[in-house]
Amino acid sequence: MVTVRAPATSANLGSGFDVFGVALSKPADVVTVEKAAETMIEVLGVGNQYIPEDPEKNTVGAVAEALDAPAHIKINKGVRPASGLGSSAASAAAAAVALDELYGRGHSREELVPIAAEGEAVVSGDAHEDNVAPALLGGFTIAREGGVTCVDASIPLVVCLPDIVVSTRDARAVVPDGARMDELVETVGHAATLTTGMHRNDPALVGEGLYDSVVTPARAELIEGYEAVRKAAFDAGATGVTISGAGPGVLATCHPGARRRIGAAMIDAFDAAGIDARVYQTAIGNGARIL
Ligand code: HSE
Repeated sequence: MVTVRAPATSANLGSGFDVFGVALSKPADVVTVEKAAETMIEVLGVGNQYIPEDPEKNTVGAVAEALDAPAHIKINKGVRPASGLGSSAASAAAAAVALDELYGRGHSREELVPIAAEGEAVVSGDAHEDNVAPALLGGFTIAREGGVTCVDASIPLVVCLPDIVVSTRDARAVVPDGARMDELVETVGHAATLTTGMHRNDPALVGEGLYDSVVTPARAELIEGYEAVRKAAFDAGATGVTISGAGPGVLATCHPGARRRIGAAMIDAFDAAGIDARVYQTAIGNGARIL
């Protein structure tokens, strides 16, 4: 039997759509696997009622198939599904590490990235790697064709999770088909600023680099109260604010000591829009870990 904890993640970071991601120090999923003749999945924890246990439809079923590693798989969800916090990626990453260990496959974490991404494809119809890469490797990751780059960064983060559901499929359906040259130039500037900020552990540069005028505004329409929450976070001292992954979670970066104030302001702003929300005072954290 092998048990693995894999963290929630925040993908895109505004300017790095489908490329950037960070591992969060909390929350996390915990997955336990035992060898079996056929894969069986049991899901417990937060939002378990929304997650299919059929291996054909569950993110970890695809991972077991890809690793040729049938098992009884117990998923204890700490990351709410459809939150923008990489819920399916946390389960997929944890299962990939656990099954690889159980069957002694000997894959590196980098090699497990495309395998765990197969699980993402089951959920969103697209095998993007920007959530599974940080869930496996930790830190700030840049997932592009040809490989993943990982930076060990330390930035205080606040994630505010409203009590509304936005599916990744719906959020991908509103992404514009293309971008103008001036938008492309602006995005490269912000993505480079963010990457430099991660290398320097500089919350101001990272916050500035979260800005994106292409994908984020289209998706903000799906999150009631988003503009008010964004403004409240900035007013409370955030250095940057964007949608976490496909939403509806909202991510803010800040200097040390500001998380509590920013979290309270974000909750109040959602509350004023009639929406319950919870907040995680978190930080860039480690990748999946065998317990
Ligand atoms: N990059 C993905 C998206 C992450 O924003 O659609 C969500 O799975």
